[in-house]
Parts: sequence; structure tokens; C-alpha cells
Amino acid sequence: MTEAVKWSLVDRYLEERLLPQDPILQKALEANRNAGLPAIDVSPNQGRLLQLFVRMAGAKRVLEIGTLGGYSTIWMARALPEDGKLITLEVVPLHAEVARSNIAAAGLDGKVEVRTGDALGQLAEMEREQTAPFDFIFIDADKPNNPNYLQWALRFSRPGTVIVCDNVVRNGEIIREDSPDPRVNGVREFFDLLEEEKAITAAAIQTVGSKGYDGFVLGIVNERQDV
Ligand code: SAH
Ligand code: DHB
Ligand code: MG
Repeated sequence: MTEAVKWSLVDRYLEERLLPQDPILQKALEANRNAGLPAIDVSPNQGRLLQLFVRMAGAKRVLEIGTLGGYSTIWMARALPEDGKLITLEVVPLHAEVARSNIAAAGLDGKVEVRTGDALGQLAEMEREQTAPFDFIFIDADKPNNPNYLQWALRFSRPGTVIVCDNVVRNGEIIREDSPDPRVNGVREFFDLLEEEKAITAAAIQTVGSKGYDGFVLGIVNERQDV
């Protein structure tokens, strides 16, 4: 058995023990497949972990950068209180359309707004709209823009805002200084920024499972005196 097969089998075992069968989430993944979306959603256990983070943060306002079919969106939005709100940004119109349909099928369209368009443009527009700060921000879009998304995330934060960034290990490729992959370089620049940026305290955790070997960053925006 290869290591990757073992990671998937263990993930399946953990899903069977911890995650109840969920027809809504299963149908969302099926709709994504039928529409030809890439299967790069978070795994079920990672979705649950995001949901736990949203609950632990007591978040009412969540921002997601990179919607795909709304799989991670549904996990997080389910943790919101009645008056909670999640804004999610997606550049590909088909992805946004499939996501809206999945989110409506999950009964979450009252809490979730899918904004179609390039995230950098959407974020600038949200700033013009004087959008209120978010309690929880999930960065999971085009990796070369990770440094820009981190800067925007800080602008839409308050002390205590939790920021999570997906795919920061990429099969270990991120230690390659000379990587020709712009996604790897985006993640490396993101880490350079984290190293410099005293406004956020972060940890990065490597993960294995049904989505292979990757990892995520978990950070919190500091009170000024914490830095
Ligand atoms: N969060 C999703 C997965 C997102 S995959 C989940 O776990 O279920 C990354 C998504 O980011 C893709 O749908 C891709 O189209 C979108 N994306 C890529 N570049 C973007 C950009 N510049 N602005 C907004 N979205 C972008
Ligand atoms: C990619 C993006 C993701 O968000 C992910 O979870 C896995 C892969 C990608 O762009 O390759
Ligand atoms: Mg991802």
C-alpha cells in the first residue's frame, strides 16, 4: 500500500467515525462533478475543521476567497448564527452558478452571498462599499495572489479576526527556492509576508489525507499591544 493510499483509507475511517452521512454535501460534490468542476474542494474532515474554527471564533461574519462549488462555504455557513453572514468570492461564472445552486439546496442562501468576479476587484469594491470587518477569513483561491489576499484580509480584520489559508505546503514543494511554479512562489511570498507582519500570529500545519499532502495556515490578528 502506498502512503497516499493509506492516508485516504485513514481519512475514510475518520469520516465514518466522526462525520454523519450528509446528503446535502454529497449532492453538492455530485453537482460539482456533473458540471466538470475540479475536485479541489477541502476534504470532509477539513470542512468540519473549518466549521469548528468558525464556531470557536464565535464568528458572525465570514469572508471566503475562492468559492469553487461552495463545498467549504456550506461547512462554514452552517456554523453561523441566525443573523450571520458569509461573503464568498469566485472569478469563474460557472463555479459561482454551481455554488449558488448548492448553497440554495443547503438552505443557506439567506446567509451566503456569492460575488462573481476577480477577488482583487471584488475586495476593492467591498472597500468602497465600506464593508464591515470579518470575524473569520478563509483564503483559498489563486495561490500567486496569496500575498495580496493576506493584505486584504488584514484590512478587513479587527483584533481577534481568525485567518486561515489553504494549500500552503503543496506536496512539500514550498521548500523549493527555485520552483518554476507560480503557485509555490505565491505561497512562499505569503510566508515572507507573515514573517514580517507583526499584526498576525500564525502557525502552519502539514496535513495528509484524501487530498494528498498539503497544509494550512491558522492565524489570529493581534491587539496592538500583543505584537
Ligand atoms: N474553497 C473551495 C475550493 C476553492 S478552489 C472549497 O474548498 O470547496 C479555488 C477557487 O478559486 C476556484 O473556483 C477558482 O476559480 C477560484 N479563483 C481562482 N482565481 C481567482 C480570482 N482571481 N478571484 C476569485 N476566485 C478565483
Ligand atoms: C489547488 C487549489 C486548491 O484550493 C486546492 O485545495 C488544491 C489545489 C490548485 O490550484 O491546484
Ligand atoms: Mg484549497
